[in-house]
Amino acid sequence: MRAMTYRGPYKVRVDEKDMPAIEHPNDAIVRVTRAAICGSDLHLYHGMMPDTRIGHTFGHEFIGVVEEVGSSVQNLAPGDRVMVPFNVFCGSCYFCARGLFSNCHNVNPNATAVGGIYGYSHTCGGYDGGQAEYVRVPFADVGPSRIPEWLDDDDAVLFTDALPTGYFGAQLGDIEEGDVVVVFGAGPVGLFAARSAWLMGAGRVIVVDHLEYRLEKARTFAFAETYNFAEYDDIVVEMKRTTGYLGADVVIDAVGAEADGNFTQHVTSAMLKLQGGSPVALNWAIDSVRKGGTVSVVGAYGPLFSAVKFGDAMNKGLTIRTNQCPVKRQWPRLLEHVQNGYLKPSDIVTHTIPLEHIADGYHIFSYKLDEVIKPLVSFDGG
Ligand SMILES: NC(=O)c1ccc[n+]([C@@H]2O[C@H](COP(=O)([O-])OP(=O)(O)OC[C@H]3O[C@@H](n4cnc5c(N)ncnc54)[C@H](O)[C@@H]3O)[C@@H](O)[C@H]2O)c1
Ligand SMILES: [Zn+2]
Ligand SMILES: [Zn+2]
Repeated sequence: MRAMTYRGPYKVRVDEKDMPAIEHPNDAIVRVTRAAICGSDLHLYHGMMPDTRIGHTFGHEFIGVVEEVGSSVQNLAPGDRVMVPFNVFCGSCYFCARGLFSNCHNVNPNATAVGGIYGYSHTCGGYDGGQAEYVRVPFADVGPSRIPEWLDDDDAVLFTDALPTGYFGAQLGDIEEGDVVVVFGAGPVGLFAARSAWLMGAGRVIVVDHLEYRLEKARTFAFAETYNFAEYDDIVVEMKRTTGYLGADVVIDAVGAEADGNFTQHVTSAMLKLQGGSPVALNWAIDSVRKGGTVSVVGAYGPLFSAVKFGDAMNKGLTIRTNQCPVKRQWPRLLEHVQNGYLKPSDIVTHTIPLEHIADGYHIFSYKLDEVIKPLVSFDGG
């Protein structure tokens, strides 16, 4: 089969790989019909993620058609059109029983913090991902769900990460009616977080980024007020000014470890690799929220960070909530919202790239060329 493979930082290509096989009675093999490239894939592409092995196939956002099922699979049958959450999870451990699917204890022998994620290096379990014609789906009775007939492929693929993660970012903010919500990052996750904040009763939604075309999308898709941080000496002062010098009730970090906006942090993280990334967006969140407020962190961070303003967070009495999204937990409510017309996830899709040209997709998305927001991956015949 054809599959995207990692060759080293900033190098990916499409190779011929062995077809995945059923390895356990509860596995399924899915023929992928749509995949997507995520901001999280860029951390792998940039060589920021430990134990990303040459030949690994990325792709934690994919939908497809069940090709084959193991002998114990009861909920799926060949021919079913399914969406697969980015989390690999068992459904029955201590953590899964509490809905913490992204923290499953049974799927990742390499780490105790994160669970399993498709196509996300051996740090996240070493599962080959869905930027390939076929993918092995473990715990097939647990993760995937049949896609309702009314849901298009381009909308369904966004249910596997970006949409639920944005919604989860807003949920973690514990938004109360009338709250002022600031979202750092106008990528797919930030855009969905901003849009979701309204669904949860926000009174004001502000999005901060430095890419003007993405801020435009934040205005038209997420109905947000926008600020370009490159236009201010200190964006935190501006956030304070616009909130009557109190600060926002809730701030969502939808940027993560590869934040721009601070040269020293850029040198010590991306260039010298002295820390796992730059905590600029997280620090802006801590500084922009009011005392007693909530910081929701869905932007991804690697293991080690210095210069995080933890003392300020402590002395301001902040609540900091964070996780990888437990995707399947968000599906019932999000399906209702989409079916009822409250939002159309594929409104943020800008590019659809055939698998054979996926290296171009990574390049365009990494350098934010051609006004890219969300690139999807297409396969022969669709
Ligand atoms: N928690 C989860 O389950 C989960 C799931 C998916 C993605 N993520 C993470 O969420 C983050 C966003 O993902 P995405 O797909 O939207 O990525 P993306 O790369 O498309 O978007 C990131 C945006 O942040 C902006 N940005 C950079 N520095 C900034 C700063 N200091 N302040 C404000 N904006 C800044 C960039 O210009 C860009 O528009 C990534 O870190 C990704 O790994 C987490
Ligand atoms: Zn993703
Ligand atoms: Zn589990």
